[in-house]
Amino acid sequence: MTTERRIYLDHSASAPPDPSVVEAVAACMSGTYGNASSVHAPGRRAKAALEESRESFARLINAEPAEVYFTGGGTESDNHALTGAVAALRRREPDAALAVSAVEHHAVLECAGHLAGTGVRVVQLPVGSDGVLNLGEAERLIPSGPGVTSVMLVNNETGAVQPVTEVASLVRTRNGVMHTDAVQAFGKLAMDVRALGADIVSFSGHKIGGPKGVGALYVRRGTEVDALLYGGAQERKMRAGTENVPLIVGFARAAELAERNRAALREHASACRSAMLDELRKDVPGLLINADGKGVPHILSLSLDPAVYEADGEALLMSLDLQGVAASSGSACTSGSVQPSHVLLAMGRDERTTRATVRFSFGAGNTLDDARHAAGLFRGIITRFLRTSTP
Ligand SMILES: Cc1ncc(COP(=O)(O)O)c(C=O)c1O
Repeated sequence: MTTERRIYLDHSASAPPDPSVVEAVAACMSGTYGNASSVHAPGRRAKAALEESRESFARLINAEPAEVYFTGGGTESDNHALTGAVAALRRREPDAALAVSAVEHHAVLECAGHLAGTGVRVVQLPVGSDGVLNLGEAERLIPSGPGVTSVMLVNNETGAVQPVTEVASLVRTRNGVMHTDAVQAFGKLAMDVRALGADIVSFSGHKIGGPKGVGALYVRRGTEVDALLYGGAQERKMRAGTENVPLIVGFARAAELAERNRAALREHASACRSAMLDELRKDVPGLLINADGKGVPHILSLSLDPAVYEADGEALLMSLDLQGVAASSGSACTSGSVQPSHVLLAMGRDERTTRATVRFSFGAGNTLDDARHAAGLFRGIITRFLRTSTP
């Protein structure tokens, strides 16, 4: 059965752009086509648009414009942060290690794996069953000498908010470098990089209604980070290559809107989440809420108890899609096979529970009725997966 009513509950995968973002990108592409490195008037116009975007974004996060580098998205920002900070530190401290939380995005974990392959000692920091970093264990495991530590601010699968400020002060006492992936946090939490205390912070455009393939990296003045790409002198020699001014302008515009609407969106997301849960709590057995009470309200991650259901996330998602609801599963498709979520496994969920997980994520375009309607559909779908006998 297919349906006409479409409900998009996958804002954490990619958020739809405001029309003014699309207009800003299009206007820049047609009107500001010069190369920002050219000395002529069209080039200077592009350079001005680039630097205005940098100033505007820097203001939003309480940074200096010279501390903001535009990148090709969240993955690139994370890779640049880790590889660049580790390489710079290891020139001075050849044994410098890297500590990453067990629930980081693949952009951090896979990069850490690559660095481990080059001889860097990598330690993983565990989380509790609530999805939140175990601070006691972090204190024990974070290298006592200079090293690089990466702990995300908001987890993309569960919404769990991590104690980044606390970890950053610990890292500072050990003369280390602190990176945080704030890709899912910008527009959801107040963003003041100075108060946060991290030395390096990653951002992405399309999670906040900006274009895909653009993001930013904040690098605190004085923090040593090696370049990612070599060539021209763009982005103060940190990332060579002609700057993608239209996407950067779109990113800056989206960031401005996300920050302006942050409080209203939080309230709205919270209402949507509650509406969905109220509907689901009506006689639905075996529903587990991941990181409940520990996360941002924009994300609702639900697992089905395998003692009650025989379900997997992909089947649930397909059924939801057929009924017009777009959501995500708690798994990642790697090399064609569906892997159980490393985030939920790190929280101590067993593999079967991990596979039977759906993430709903809310945005300004959702109505409370959408949330209730989607919950009703989900309730109907999962009853089809109820076990008829005990496993
Ligand atoms: C926490 C987190 N970090 C990094 C990324 C990667 O960002 P991008 O899609 O811009 O490469 C994502 C996207 O899913 C994310 O959720």
